[in-house]
Amino acid sequence: MFRRTHCILLTLGVALFAWGCSKPADSGDSGSKPTGDGSGKTAMKIDFETEIKPVLQTYCMPCHGGAGKGGVSLDALATNDQAAANSGILQKMAGAIEGGKMPPATGKPIPDDVKAKLIADLKAASS
Ligand code: HEC
Repeated sequence: MFRRTHCILLTLGVALFAWGCSKPADSGDSGSKPTGDGSGKTAMKIDFETEIKPVLQTYCMPCHGGAGKGGVSLDALATNDQAAANSGILQKMAGAIEGGKMPPATGKPIPDDVKAKLIADLKAASS
């Protein structure tokens, strides 16, 4: 009788141990989300690399690659982190496009809907 109780307690203990071990693994998943690294610095409202960069590469890169015309180079804007650290340039771009200055008539014509989205995206990314 005594032995049997002992055995049950042992089984219970092992079960509790296993349950206890599996818990941190479960909750660990939610910690791997890309947002909220705690710094707040790189948390942009928009994904620069997928939403903005391809458009800039199409319509602005021909003149703003490398050294870049007018001191504006897209080379410094390769990643979300770089974009977040250069929000001043993003704001300047939004202003230049909104004001009709960029892209100039000599560049690739930018459709109105693409242009409107680009301005809104640049503002969202830099605000
Ligand atoms: C055909 C070449 C060309 C294209 C395409 C072009 N730019 Fe420019 N950009 C220039 C030149 C040249 C200057 C410098 C002279 C000037 O300020 O007018 C300039 C200047 C700028 C400036 C600085 C303006 C200021 O007021 O200080 C910004 C910002 C800019 N471009 C953004 C863009 C963006 C964003 C695009 C794409 C939507 C773009 N450019 C496409 C040639 C181009």
